[in-house]
Amino acid sequence: MTTFAKKEEMSRTMKSYIDFCQVSATWKETACVSDQIVGFLFGRVDCELGVICRLRTLFGHGAVYLKLLLGLYGHVSHRLKIIRCALADDKNIAANSPDADGEVTFFVVDSAFRGRGIGKALMNRFLQHAKSKGARRITVYTTDPGCNWGFYERYGFKLHASFHDNFTSFARKEEVKALIFAIDI
Ligand SMILES: CC(C)(COP(=O)(O)OP(=O)(O)OC[C@H]1O[C@@H](n2cnc3c(N)ncnc32)[C@H](O)[C@@H]1OP(=O)(O)O)[C@@H](O)C(=O)NCCC(=O)NCCS
Repeated sequence: MTTFAKKEEMSRTMKSYIDFCQVSATWKETACVSDQIVGFLFGRVDCELGVICRLRTLFGHGAVYLKLLLGLYGHVSHRLKIIRCALADDKNIAANSPDADGEVTFFVVDSAFRGRGIGKALMNRFLQHAKSKGARRITVYTTDPGCNWGFYERYGFKLHASFHDNFTSFARKEEVKALIFAIDI
């Protein structure tokens, strides 16, 4: 049960979220099985962010909020409230994150292909890349309920902080916790 009028509104909001995650990513990888895309991992390694990339991220995030506000993703109810929640969450994430050299920004495997080692392979490749660039600690922001954070614990990430998640609590109409995990690599 969500506060969105239609299921389609949730997928439009999700599209804006994916755009938001893409903008700051320095690593984007897809997993394919027989030419079918079955998973994505977007990540950011901070030492790869030059001045231009940081500016692109700043303006890119602003552009996503603006597109959402102007209805360019399609009609989404409560747009102002969504943006307010997202900005409050950004602030909380910044305040509750440990010092780190990068972040997993978006990570998903098609439900029909889960449990086959695809997620682990995507994560291994990103962390190997981050390590090769000199990164020592990577974080990830996730939620409970709503995300499979058990994967991170199993993988070796440690829970660093937990706090109220404004956006997902609003969307799901239930209390949702934000979780910040970190792994030393
Ligand atoms: C998280 C996700 C990407 C994992 O992808 P996956 O391809 O199913 O994961 P894998 O098959 O590679 O699993 C790797 C290991 O993690 C374990 N694992 C996965 N989920 C687990 C859980 N909830 N609790 C404990 N272990 C878990 C697997 O059993 C496997 O263990 P093994 O190494 O002993 O075999 C997938 O579950 C997903 O897309 N979930 C929905 C989106 C999401 O929650 N994304 C991440 C949070 S933002």
